[in-house]
Amino acid sequence: VSQPRILAIETSCDETAVALVRGRSELLASVIASQTKLHERYGGVVPEVASRNHLLKIRPLIDEVVSTAGGFSEVDVVAATRGPGLLTSLLVGYSVAKGLAIGLGRPFVGVNHLEGHLLSPFSEAGQGVTPCVGLIVSGGHSLLVKVDAVGSYTVLGRTLDDAAGEAFDKVAKLLGLPYPGGPVIDRLSAQGDPERFDLPRSMLGSGDLNFSFSGLKTAVRYLLPTLGGDFVADVCASFQEAVVDVLVKKTLRAAKLHRVNLVTVSGGVSLNTRLRARMQEATREAGLQLLLAPLHLTTDNAAMIAFTALERYLAGHTTDLSVDADPNLALC
Ligand code: KG4
Ligand code: ZN
Repeated sequence: VSQPRILAIETSCDETAVALVRGRSELLASVIASQTKLHERYGGVVPEVASRNHLLKIRPLIDEVVSTAGGFSEVDVVAATRGPGLLTSLLVGYSVAKGLAIGLGRPFVGVNHLEGHLLSPFSEAGQGVTPCVGLIVSGGHSLLVKVDAVGSYTVLGRTLDDAAGEAFDKVAKLLGLPYPGGPVIDRLSAQGDPERFDLPRSMLGSGDLNFSFSGLKTAVRYLLPTLGGDFVADVCASFQEAVVDVLVKKTLRAAKLHRVNLVTVSGGVSLNTRLRARMQEATREAGLQLLLAPLHLTTDNAAMIAFTALERYLAGHTTDLSVDADPNLALC
Protein backbone atom coordinates (compact mmCIF):
# COMPACT_ATOMS: atom_id res chain seq x y z
CA VAL A 1 0.00 0.00 0.00
CA SER A 2 1.54 3.34 -0.99
CA GLN A 3 -0.55 5.48 1.40
CA PRO A 4 -1.11 3.12 4.33
CA ARG A 5 -3.75 3.98 6.89
CA ILE A 6 -2.44 3.66 10.43
CA LEU A 7 -4.68 3.37 13.49
CA ALA A 8 -2.75 4.35 16.64
CA ILE A 9 -3.56 4.15 20.34
CA GLU A 10 -1.79 6.11 23.10
CA THR A 11 -2.39 5.29 26.78
CA SER A 12 1.01 5.86 28.40
CA CYS A 13 -0.22 8.08 31.23
CA ASP A 14 -3.60 9.72 31.91
CA GLU A 15 -4.73 10.57 28.38
CA THR A 16 -6.64 8.02 26.32
CA ALA A 17 -5.97 8.91 22.70
CA VAL A 18 -6.75 7.34 19.33
CA ALA A 19 -5.84 8.61 15.86
CA LEU A 20 -5.86 7.58 12.24
CA VAL A 21 -3.50 8.85 9.55
CA ARG A 22 -3.32 8.12 5.85
CA GLY A 23 0.15 8.42 4.42
CA ARG A 24 2.42 11.25 5.53
CA SER A 25 0.12 14.15 4.94
CA GLU A 26 -3.38 13.21 6.06
CA LEU A 27 -4.54 13.19 9.65
CA LEU A 28 -8.02 11.66 9.27
CA ALA A 29 -9.02 11.69 12.93
CA SER A 30 -7.50 12.34 16.35
CA VAL A 31 -9.41 12.17 19.63
CA ILE A 32 -8.22 12.54 23.22
CA ALA A 33 -10.04 11.86 26.49
CA SER A 34 -8.17 13.55 29.31
CA GLN A 35 -8.40 12.32 32.90
CA THR A 36 -6.71 15.38 34.42
CA LYS A 37 -9.83 16.34 36.38
CA LEU A 38 -10.10 12.85 37.90
CA HIS A 39 -6.55 12.89 39.25
CA GLU A 40 -6.51 16.53 40.34
CA ARG A 41 -7.84 15.84 43.82
CA TYR A 42 -5.08 13.27 44.47
CA GLY A 43 -2.37 15.75 43.43
CA GLY A 44 -0.94 13.36 40.84
CA VAL A 45 -1.82 10.51 38.51
CA VAL A 46 -3.10 7.41 40.36
CA PRO A 47 -2.15 4.39 38.21
CA GLU A 48 -5.15 2.23 39.18
CA VAL A 49 -7.61 5.06 38.45
CA ALA A 50 -5.83 5.80 35.16
CA SER A 51 -5.95 2.23 33.83
CA ARG A 52 -9.60 1.73 34.77
CA ASN A 53 -10.52 4.89 32.89
CA HIS A 54 -8.50 3.89 29.85
CA LEU A 55 -10.59 0.70 29.81
CA LEU A 56 -13.82 2.70 29.91
CA LYS A 57 -12.78 5.14 27.17
CA ILE A 58 -10.80 3.07 24.72
CA ARG A 59 -13.60 1.26 22.87
CA PRO A 60 -15.84 4.31 22.23
CA LEU A 61 -12.82 6.34 21.06
CA ILE A 62 -11.70 3.60 18.66
CA ASP A 63 -15.24 3.31 17.28
CA GLU A 64 -15.43 7.08 16.80
CA VAL A 65 -12.13 7.24 14.92
CA VAL A 66 -12.68 4.14 12.80
CA SER A 67 -16.19 5.25 11.79
CA THR A 68 -14.76 8.45 10.27
CA ALA A 69 -12.60 6.24 8.05
CA GLY A 70 -15.37 3.92 6.93
CA GLY A 71 -14.72 0.92 9.17
CA PHE A 72 -11.99 -1.45 10.33
CA SER A 73 -11.49 -2.81 6.81
CA GLU A 74 -9.87 0.55 5.96
CA VAL A 75 -7.10 0.10 8.53
CA ASP A 76 -3.79 -1.17 7.10
CA VAL A 77 -1.58 -1.08 10.20
CA VAL A 78 -2.34 -1.01 13.94
CA ALA A 79 0.02 0.86 16.28
CA ALA A 80 0.26 1.65 19.99
CA THR A 81 2.58 3.28 22.48
CA ARG A 82 4.86 0.60 23.93
CA GLY A 83 6.59 2.78 26.57
CA PRO A 84 7.85 4.61 28.53
CA GLY A 85 4.97 5.30 30.90
CA LEU A 86 2.83 3.70 33.58
CA LEU A 87 2.75 -0.05 32.91
CA THR A 88 -0.91 -0.50 33.89
CA SER A 89 -1.88 2.37 31.57
CA LEU A 90 0.34 1.24 28.69
CA LEU A 91 -1.04 -2.30 28.85
CA VAL A 92 -4.60 -1.16 28.08
CA GLY A 93 -3.82 0.52 24.74
CA TYR A 94 -1.02 -1.85 23.81
CA SER A 95 -3.09 -5.00 24.42
CA VAL A 96 -6.16 -3.64 22.64
CA ALA A 97 -3.99 -2.69 19.65
CA LYS A 98 -2.36 -6.12 19.52
CA GLY A 99 -5.81 -7.73 19.70
CA LEU A 100 -7.02 -5.55 16.82
CA ALA A 101 -3.95 -6.41 14.76
CA ILE A 102 -4.62 -10.12 15.29
CA GLY A 103 -8.35 -9.80 14.61
CA LEU A 104 -7.87 -7.72 11.46
CA GLY A 105 -4.84 -9.69 10.28
CA ARG A 106 -2.80 -6.48 10.00
CA PRO A 107 0.81 -5.67 10.94
CA PHE A 108 1.48 -4.20 14.37
CA VAL A 109 3.90 -1.40 15.29
CA GLY A 110 4.86 -0.65 18.91
CA VAL A 111 6.01 2.96 19.30
CA ASN A 112 8.27 4.67 21.82
CA HIS A 113 6.31 7.61 23.29
CA LEU A 114 9.43 9.82 23.24
CA GLU A 115 10.00 9.02 19.59
CA GLY A 116 6.40 10.10 19.03
CA HIS A 117 7.16 13.51 20.54
CA LEU A 118 10.54 13.68 18.76
CA LEU A 119 9.12 13.11 15.27
CA SER A 120 5.95 15.19 15.77
CA PRO A 121 7.50 18.37 14.26
CA PHE A 122 7.97 16.49 10.96
CA SER A 123 4.34 15.42 10.71
CA GLU A 124 3.25 18.52 8.80
CA ALA A 125 6.45 18.96 6.81
CA GLY A 126 5.26 16.11 4.56
CA GLN A 127 8.74 15.07 3.46
CA GLY A 128 9.82 12.54 6.07
CA VAL A 129 12.48 12.80 8.74
CA THR A 130 15.79 14.59 8.13
CA PRO A 131 18.87 14.90 10.39
CA CYS A 132 18.44 17.39 13.23
CA VAL A 133 18.89 18.13 16.89
CA GLY A 134 15.55 17.63 18.66
CA LEU A 135 14.59 19.14 21.99
CA ILE A 136 11.83 17.17 23.77
CA VAL A 137 10.36 19.07 26.72
CA SER A 138 7.34 17.62 28.50
CA GLY A 139 5.96 16.98 31.96
CA GLY A 140 8.03 13.84 32.32
CA HIS A 141 11.06 14.40 30.11
CA SER A 142 13.65 16.95 28.97
CA LEU A 143 15.96 15.54 26.34
CA LEU A 144 18.28 16.75 23.60
CA VAL A 145 18.51 14.15 20.85
CA LYS A 146 20.58 13.92 17.69
CA VAL A 147 18.44 12.44 14.92
CA ASP A 148 20.28 10.87 12.00
CA ALA A 149 17.28 9.03 10.52
CA VAL A 150 14.10 7.29 11.70
CA GLY A 151 15.22 4.90 14.44
CA SER A 152 18.75 6.27 14.56
CA TYR A 153 19.05 8.51 17.63
CA THR A 154 21.70 9.62 20.11
CA VAL A 155 20.75 11.23 23.41
CA LEU A 156 23.03 14.27 23.75
CA GLY A 157 21.69 15.52 27.07
CA ARG A 158 18.88 15.11 29.55
CA THR A 159 17.64 16.58 32.80
CA LEU A 160 19.48 15.42 35.89
CA ASP A 161 16.44 16.06 38.10
CA ASP A 162 13.07 17.68 37.24
CA ALA A 163 11.70 17.80 33.70
CA ALA A 164 11.03 21.29 32.33
CA GLY A 165 7.25 20.83 32.51
CA GLU A 166 7.57 19.45 36.02
CA ALA A 167 9.42 22.64 37.02
CA PHE A 168 6.58 24.76 35.60
CA ASP A 169 4.04 22.65 37.50
CA LYS A 170 5.97 22.78 40.80
CA VAL A 171 6.60 26.53 40.65
CA ALA A 172 2.93 27.10 39.84
CA LYS A 173 2.05 25.07 42.95
CA LEU A 174 4.41 27.21 45.07
CA LEU A 175 2.55 30.27 43.76
CA GLY A 176 -0.84 28.72 44.56
CA LEU A 177 -1.73 28.45 40.86
CA PRO A 178 -3.76 25.54 39.40
CA TYR A 179 -2.42 22.38 37.72
CA PRO A 180 -1.04 22.06 35.07
CA GLY A 181 1.10 25.08 35.80
CA GLY A 182 2.73 25.55 32.40
CA PRO A 183 -0.17 27.22 30.59
CA VAL A 184 -0.97 29.43 33.61
CA ILE A 185 2.61 30.64 34.05
CA ASP A 186 2.81 31.23 30.29
CA ARG A 187 -0.29 33.42 30.42
CA LEU A 188 0.66 35.37 33.57
CA SER A 189 4.21 35.95 32.31
CA ALA A 190 2.88 38.14 29.51
CA GLN A 191 2.09 40.78 32.17
CA GLY A 192 5.29 40.26 34.17
CA ASP A 193 8.82 41.61 34.16
CA PRO A 194 11.28 38.82 33.24
CA GLU A 195 14.19 40.84 34.63
CA ARG A 196 12.80 41.69 38.06
CA PHE A 197 14.28 38.58 39.68
CA ASP A 198 17.66 37.17 38.69
CA LEU A 199 17.03 33.42 38.94
CA PRO A 200 19.72 30.78 38.34
CA ARG A 201 20.42 29.41 34.85
CA SER A 202 21.54 26.01 36.14
CA MET A 203 24.06 24.05 34.09
CA LEU A 204 24.45 26.80 31.50
CA GLY A 205 28.16 26.85 32.26
CA SER A 206 28.54 23.08 32.50
CA GLY A 207 30.47 21.83 29.50
CA ASP A 208 27.80 19.24 28.69
CA LEU A 209 24.30 19.30 27.24
CA ASN A 210 22.41 18.23 30.36
CA PHE A 211 19.77 20.23 32.22
CA SER A 212 18.84 20.74 35.85
CA PHE A 213 15.71 22.55 37.00
CA SER A 214 15.32 21.67 40.67
CA GLY A 215 17.72 24.41 41.81
CA LEU A 216 15.61 26.99 40.00
CA LYS A 217 12.50 25.71 41.75
CA THR A 218 14.29 25.92 45.11
CA ALA A 219 15.43 29.47 44.32
CA VAL A 220 11.78 30.42 43.75
CA ARG A 221 10.78 28.71 47.01
CA TYR A 222 13.28 30.81 49.00
CA LEU A 223 12.43 33.98 47.12
CA LEU A 224 8.67 33.91 47.76
CA PRO A 225 8.62 34.56 51.56
CA THR A 226 10.78 37.67 51.04
CA LEU A 227 8.24 39.27 48.70
CA GLY A 228 5.30 41.55 49.38
CA GLY A 229 2.78 43.34 47.22
CA ASP A 230 2.16 42.32 43.65
CA PHE A 231 4.79 39.83 42.55
CA VAL A 232 3.14 36.75 40.96
CA ALA A 233 3.40 37.84 37.31
CA ASP A 234 7.02 38.99 37.77
CA VAL A 235 8.02 35.70 39.42
CA CYS A 236 6.31 33.78 36.59
CA ALA A 237 8.06 35.84 33.91
CA SER A 238 11.48 35.64 35.60
CA PHE A 239 11.17 31.90 36.18
CA GLN A 240 9.98 31.26 32.62
CA GLU A 241 12.83 33.34 31.22
CA ALA A 242 15.38 31.30 33.17
CA VAL A 243 13.98 27.98 31.87
CA VAL A 244 13.70 29.22 28.28
CA ASP A 245 17.19 30.76 28.38
CA VAL A 246 18.79 27.41 29.25
CA LEU A 247 16.66 25.42 26.79
CA VAL A 248 17.40 27.74 23.86
CA LYS A 249 21.13 28.14 24.54
CA LYS A 250 21.80 24.43 25.08
CA THR A 251 19.78 23.44 22.01
CA LEU A 252 21.72 25.86 19.82
CA ARG A 253 24.99 24.71 21.35
CA ALA A 254 24.03 21.11 20.49
CA ALA A 255 23.19 22.01 16.89
CA LYS A 256 26.52 23.80 16.47
CA LEU A 257 28.52 21.01 18.13
CA HIS A 258 26.90 18.32 16.00
CA ARG A 259 26.87 20.36 12.80
CA VAL A 260 23.20 20.09 11.90
CA ASN A 261 21.25 22.93 10.33
CA LEU A 262 17.82 21.87 11.61
CA VAL A 263 16.45 22.17 15.13
CA THR A 264 13.11 20.72 16.30
CA VAL A 265 11.14 21.31 19.51
CA SER A 266 8.38 19.05 20.83
CA GLY A 267 6.46 18.02 23.96
CA GLY A 268 3.95 19.87 26.15
CA VAL A 269 6.37 22.67 27.09
CA SER A 270 6.87 23.45 23.39
CA LEU A 271 3.45 25.12 23.64
CA ASN A 272 5.17 27.85 25.63
CA THR A 273 4.84 31.21 23.86
CA ARG A 274 8.18 32.54 25.05
CA LEU A 275 10.06 29.32 24.18
CA ARG A 276 8.60 29.35 20.66
CA ALA A 277 9.46 33.03 20.16
CA ARG A 278 13.00 32.80 21.53
CA MET A 279 13.70 29.60 19.54
CA GLN A 280 12.53 31.35 16.37
CA GLU A 281 14.71 34.37 17.06
CA ALA A 282 17.81 32.37 18.04
CA THR A 283 17.66 29.94 15.13
CA ARG A 284 17.12 32.80 12.66
CA GLU A 285 20.17 34.62 14.04
CA ALA A 286 22.25 31.44 13.85
CA GLY A 287 21.09 30.64 10.32
CA LEU A 288 19.41 27.42 11.41
CA GLN A 289 16.13 25.94 10.27
CA LEU A 290 13.46 25.38 12.93
CA LEU A 291 10.53 22.97 13.07
CA LEU A 292 8.23 23.44 16.06
CA ALA A 293 5.71 20.71 16.87
CA PRO A 294 2.29 21.76 15.54
CA LEU A 295 0.27 23.13 18.48
CA HIS A 296 -2.22 20.25 18.46
CA LEU A 297 0.60 17.68 18.65
CA THR A 298 2.52 19.13 21.59
CA THR A 299 0.81 17.55 24.60
CA ASP A 300 0.13 13.81 24.62
CA ASN A 301 -1.86 12.59 21.62
CA ALA A 302 -2.15 9.55 19.36
CA ALA A 303 -1.55 11.39 16.07
CA MET A 304 2.19 11.63 16.84
CA ILE A 305 2.18 7.88 17.57
CA ALA A 306 0.45 7.23 14.24
CA PHE A 307 2.96 9.40 12.31
CA THR A 308 5.88 7.69 14.02
CA ALA A 309 4.42 4.24 13.34
CA LEU A 310 4.02 5.26 9.69
CA GLU A 311 7.68 6.32 9.44
CA ARG A 312 8.74 3.04 11.06
CA TYR A 313 6.45 1.03 8.79
CA LEU A 314 7.71 2.82 5.67
CA ALA A 315 11.27 2.08 6.83
CA GLY A 316 10.35 -1.61 6.96
CA HIS A 317 9.91 -2.05 10.70
CA THR A 318 6.99 -3.83 12.37
CA THR A 319 6.79 -5.20 15.91
CA ASP A 320 6.44 -8.90 16.69
CA LEU A 321 3.38 -9.67 18.81
CA SER A 322 5.61 -11.36 21.38
CA VAL A 323 7.20 -8.00 22.27
CA ASP A 324 5.80 -6.61 25.52
CA ALA A 325 5.04 -3.08 26.67
CA ASP A 326 7.94 -1.59 28.65
CA PRO A 327 7.43 1.14 31.27
CA ASN A 328 11.14 2.06 31.07
CA LEU A 329 11.57 1.79 27.32
CA ALA A 330 14.65 3.78 26.27
CA LEU A 331 14.74 5.93 23.14
CA CYS A 332 17.94 4.27 21.93
O1 KG4 B 1 3.87 16.30 26.76
P1 KG4 B 1 2.95 16.43 27.92
O2 KG4 B 1 1.48 16.34 27.66
O3 KG4 B 1 3.22 15.36 29.02
C1 KG4 B 1 4.18 14.40 29.09
O4 KG4 B 1 4.28 13.53 28.20
O5 KG4 B 1 4.92 14.48 30.10
O6 KG4 B 1 3.33 17.79 28.66
C2 KG4 B 1 2.66 18.27 29.78
C3 KG4 B 1 3.51 19.36 30.40
C4 KG4 B 1 3.00 19.86 31.74
O7 KG4 B 1 4.06 19.87 32.67
C5 KG4 B 1 2.53 21.29 31.43
O8 KG4 B 1 2.66 22.17 32.52
C6 KG4 B 1 3.46 21.68 30.30
O9 KG4 B 1 3.57 20.50 29.54
N1 KG4 B 1 2.91 22.78 29.50
C7 KG4 B 1 3.51 24.00 29.40
C8 KG4 B 1 2.65 24.78 28.58
N2 KG4 B 1 1.58 24.02 28.24
C9 KG4 B 1 1.76 22.79 28.80
N3 KG4 B 1 4.65 24.47 29.90
C10 KG4 B 1 4.97 25.74 29.62
N4 KG4 B 1 4.20 26.58 28.88
C11 KG4 B 1 3.04 26.14 28.34
N5 KG4 B 1 2.28 26.96 27.59
ZN1 ZN C 1 4.35 12.86 26.47
